[in-house]
Amino acid sequence: MEAKEAVLLVGLSLFGFTTPGLAADDGAKILAEVCAECHTAKKNPLDKINLTRGEWRDTLDRMVGYGAEIPKGKIPELLDYLVKTHGPAGTTGKGEN
Ligand code: HEC
Repeated sequence: MEAKEAVLLVGLSLFGFTTPGLAADDGAKILAEVCAECHTAKKNPLDKINLTRGEWRDTLDRMVGYGAEIPKGKIPELLDYLVKTHGPAGTTGKGEN
């Protein structure tokens, strides 16, 4: 009986960390794979940060300096994704900061 619960928990935590099959958006993938190393919902969260493309580019430079391993050719895609989801107007809606 308890084994069933354990399996359920493992399943849930796996889904919490990855979204298998959603490889279409490289920006999201890089964010999850590279940035999550140092940024999580609890530690240095990025969800409330809204920057322009130029500010994001500077920030990415800084992160690379900290050791973020962003695949070189992928920076434009990551910038696109960041501006789309964390752009200046807060595209996600509420303008929380
Ligand atoms: C090796 C660890 C590391 C990685 C990987 C990393 N960061 Fe950071 N990041 C930091 C640290 C430490 C700070 C806080 C110091 C600072 O703001 O310069 C920070 C700060 C930031 C800030 C500013 C936060 C604020 O409150 O102003 C942003 C935005 C950011 N990171 C975005 C990213 C993105 C996007 C990625 C992935 C491409 C990334 N970081 C990857 C370590 C990391």
